[in-house]
Amino acid sequence: MKKNLYEAVLQAITEIDTDNATLEDFLRMGISAEQSAIILYNKIADSIEKNYGYIPTAQLFRHTSEEEKEHVGEFQRMLLEVDFEEAEAQAEGAEEAEEIIFDSHGDDLLFIEQEVAIAQNNYTLILEKGDKIQIVKKR
Ligand SMILES: [Fe+2]
Repeated sequence: MKKNLYEAVLQAITEIDTDNATLEDFLRMGISAEQSAIILYNKIADSIEKNYGYIPTAQLFRHTSEEEKEHVGEFQRMLLEVDFEEAEAQAEGAEEAEEIIFDSHGDDLLFIEQEVAIAQNNYTLILEKGDKIQIVKKR
């Protein structure tokens, strides 16, 4: 049986052990809460759009979901200050993921070496040095 959202959140909050938590624990809780909020707000926006259409309330949840990503970044950055092993572990993980990403793209990945602006219809696409784009079709 699905729980009422308010009851589920309240239960989760009251069951958190903050008495024995470290700074790392608090920051990980913050990251986890923000990540959960991103999923929740998008789920709520989907539901509002399904039931009421594309109305401002749905837009507000989508917008707020995007803002939560910034909060994740704030907590992650602070976590690096209090857990020195975290930075090293994240860097190693990022490197491993990049190897997988680059291997999967192979020759189809283009590294932008200087700024390029492509104007088409009402849009201008700006690619900056260091950007990577995937080539999906070659002539
Ligand atoms: Fe937040």
